[in-house]
Amino acid sequence: MTLTAYNHVPIPAFMYGTAWKKAATAQMMQLAVATGFTAIDTANQLIHYEEALVGEALRALEHKGVKRDALFLQTKFTSVDGQGNQTPYDPSADLTTQVRQSFDSSLSHLGTDYVDSYVLHAPFQRRGLGAADWEVWAAMEGLCQSGKAKMIGVSNVTAGQLVQLCEQTNVKPMVVQNRCYAALGWDKEVRETCQTHGIIYQGFSLLTANRGVLADSAIRTIAGRLGAAPAQIVFRFAMQIGMLPLTGTTSQQHMKEDLQAEQLALSSQEIERIEKIAR
Ligand SMILES: NC(=O)c1ccc[n+]([C@@H]2O[C@H](COP(=O)([O-])OP(=O)(O)OC[C@H]3O[C@@H](n4cnc5c(N)ncnc54)[C@H](OP(=O)(O)O)[C@@H]3O)[C@@H](O)[C@H]2O)c1
Repeated sequence: MTLTAYNHVPIPAFMYGTAWKKAATAQMMQLAVATGFTAIDTANQLIHYEEALVGEALRALEHKGVKRDALFLQTKFTSVDGQGNQTPYDPSADLTTQVRQSFDSSLSHLGTDYVDSYVLHAPFQRRGLGAADWEVWAAMEGLCQSGKAKMIGVSNVTAGQLVQLCEQTNVKPMVVQNRCYAALGWDKEVRETCQTHGIIYQGFSLLTANRGVLADSAIRTIAGRLGAAPAQIVFRFAMQIGMLPLTGTTSQQHMKEDLQAEQLALSSQEIERIEKIAR
């Protein structure tokens, strides 16, 4: 199954995240692809991701006959504040140069000449957008217009910031990637803004940010009816309300279960019940 943003580029309906896998990144990613994932998320940010090992996995997969264009690759530009000691660009350069250098470094890590999606890891400020955000976004728009990034997007964004981006830029984001809390109506405000503008909403930490939800009696009852695990119900719920979920599981059994969530069907009453869980 695929989703399409307003620019009509297809994106697989479930994404495998490579954060925190460290030295196991290449092995985990190959396992995820062998299990059925075709969309991979990474970032050029060494404190949480090993983008070069994603590239190593891509080379190994290519040897096994999995072509680059059979996979959807998403990576991110992370500002100096979100980097550790090793910044993959000149931190003293202007922001336009930082984006260009970080993007070139991503292409080199990944051994490719384009990415399917390029995401601003986070705006520079918590509320509203400032000059730094506009400069970085303009550089990202350039990458999109050149065809080297098929889509551009933004992560860790508020609904207000997203509205500003949509209304005041030449190229609106095609994807948003946010931590999704049930307690915030499953990020309702941001999801609604995405829907208005034809943007794909990617949700992360669906399980880890909502541990209480997994134990909720409503989830357990639905899981019982379908003979499924609570985690699968959360992923299926996310898909049925139009979200693209991410999983970062390290277990092949969980990879299989997470993908199998696509086959489940929740009733509209069950969806309404889960929407109301606020833990
Ligand atoms: N943009 C950002 O700022 C940002 C921030 C955080 C994450 N992300 C992206 O989102 C990806 C996913 O991150 P995440 O926070 O959602 O997940 P995560 O923390 O990587 O892991 C998901 C957790 O859920 C468990 N799990 C997965 N499937 C399960 C199942 N079927 N049954 C039981 N447990 C299951 C995993 O345990 P097992 O390993 O034992 O299965 C793991 O503990 C990251 O890798 C990264 O790519 C982006």
